[in-house]
This record gives sequence, C-alpha cells and structure tokens, in this order.
Amino acid sequence: MDSRPELFDFHGVGMTHFYTDNWENTQNFQARPDDILLATYPKSGTTWVAYILDLLYFGQKLPEREKSIPLYKRVFNLEIAFPSLEQGPSRPIVCGTDQVNNLSTSPRIIRTHLPVQFLPKSFLEQNCKIVYMARNAKDSVVSYFHFEGMTLLHPAPGDWSSYLQRFMEEKMVFGSWYDHVTGWWEKKQSHPNLHYVFYEDLVEDCGREIDNLCCFLGLSPSSEEKEMIKRTVQFDDMKKNNLVNHSTFKLMDFKKSPFIRKGKVGDWKNHFTVAQSEQFDEDYKQKMKNPTLQFRAE
Ligand code: A3P
Repeated sequence: MDSRPELFDFHGVGMTHFYTDNWENTQNFQARPDDILLATYPKSGTTWVAYILDLLYFGQKLPEREKSIPLYKRVFNLEIAFPSLEQGPSRPIVCGTDQVNNLSTSPRIIRTHLPVQFLPKSFLEQNCKIVYMARNAKDSVVSYFHFEGMTLLHPAPGDWSSYLQRFMEEKMVFGSWYDHVTGWWEKKQSHPNLHYVFYEDLVEDCGREIDNLCCFLGLSPSSEEKEMIKRTVQFDDMKKNNLVNHSTFKLMDFKKSPFIRKGKVGDWKNHFTVAQSEQFDEDYKQKMKNPTLQFRAE
C-alpha cells in the first residue's frame, strides 16, 4: 500500500477512513471497569506512556512479552481499521476493537486519539481510569509534520508553512489540537477518574510522573521496579528498542523519518520562523481561553 488516504470532515473533525471504517464498533465498544484508557492528540508521547503503563502492569508478571511482542500489539489503538499487516494490503481489515476484544491479558490497556466528544460511552459508564497525555502545541505540530511525512495512514503533509497554517485552521487528522486538549481537560471536571499528564513534565522528571501515575492507578511497585521502568523508557533506549520504536510496523517509511525522532521540548525553534511563531502565538491566545490549562513551550 503506497497511496495516501484523503483527509475528510467527519462530524466537524478531520479523519482518514482508517479511523472511521470501524466506527459503529468503536462507538459501541464495551469497556470493562478495569480497562485503562490512554488518550492523546497524535504525537504527544502516546508510545512513551503506553510503554510505562505496559511495564507497570506486566513488566514483572509477563517478562517474556518484553522480548517478543511489539508494543503496538500490547496496547492497541481502539479506532483503527487497516489492511492486515501480516497478510498484505488486499487481505481483510484488522480492527482495533477486535484486537482489544481478543486480548487475554488484564487489565486491558487501550489507546485512542479520539477527541473527547467521540469517546465511546462505556468508558464513562464503567468509570474506567483514563490517562490523558498532552504536549505543547508547537512541538506537537512539528512532530506531527515529520510523522505525516512517514506514515501511510495519513495524507502527505505538504510543505512546512502550509502545514502549519492547516494546523492553525484545525484541519488535521483527529481534528483541532486546541479542542482536543481543552475538551479532555474539561472532561476531568465530570470524570475525576481522569489523570491529565503533560509531556513536558515527563521530560522534566519521569520518576516523579511515574509516581503520580502509580498513585492515580493504585499501584505500588518496588523502588527497584520503578528504577527499571525509568531506565527502560529513556528516550535513547526506546529509540533503539525494535519492539517499541515501530520499526516492524509496515505502514511507515523509516527512510523519511524515525518514529521516535528527537524527544525534545522546544524542537519547534528549529522549524518556526520568528514571523510564524508570532502569528502562532497570537492565534493561540484567541483559541486557548481556559486559564486553568497552561502549557510550557520553552
Ligand atoms: P518527536 O517527533 O518530537 O521526537 P506519539 O507516541 O504520541 O506518536 O508521540 C511521538 C513523540 O514522542 C515523538 O516526538 C517521540 O520522539 C516522542 N517520544 C517517544 N518516546 C519518548 C521518550 N522516551 N522520551 C521523550 N520523547 C519520547
């Protein structure tokens, strides 16, 4: 499969068919009370937190999984539907909902990029624990630009300056970054079982954020176990680890960019011109009106 899908408007949110082909099953997905949902806007550090969660729950219990199963097959994306990667593109589609339903391990750690208004109801009805990871807008758009250059699941990004414009116009796959981070932030008010994490905080002190996560999840790993997780999820180690760096994922072109790319706060400065940054900041002020939600962009 080498052609790129089209971006289209889906109830006010940009999507490609890979995320809407299995829509009814996604919306009717039956969550279990012990499911852990990891929700993010794309490129916010989903893989990083997914790995931390997987190690917290299974690192000791199922150590063999660490040596043999790619992370994307341990923590499935709920809404995705794509051609069977093993059997080639002409084969029937594989759906995230089926993959999650076929999991024999528990708890099930599930990831999603859906904006909050598309969250399947059962997660709230079952009062599931939800972890939301957010990353500052400027680094998110830079990371997304590189990602869309290499993934065949999204439209090609085009040139940087029009891409940035499109991000500000909120015409992205999974919709507006501004609405996404704000919508999930506001959901915390009615769903206290939601832990909102910032990428920048994880970069600053991963150990502290793992402690906060454990507190939220009701887990009490030993200090040795926590140290092991902290070491294992370091950027350089994850970048080299073929079971987490997506290098076995067939729908990505690693000649264009690695999936685990730079892992920095402030990489936007290598992409934005001064004028682009000023325009972005002005537009940002208009869109981000909730004073309780503050990002650090450095
Ligand atoms: P960059 O493209 O800026 O490097 P997602 O998993 O949501 O797609 O997010 C990918 C981004 O998270 C990439 O950002 C990737 O490098 C970064 N990332 C992944 N693992 C990381 C880690 N251990 N430490 C810091 N950043 C990490």
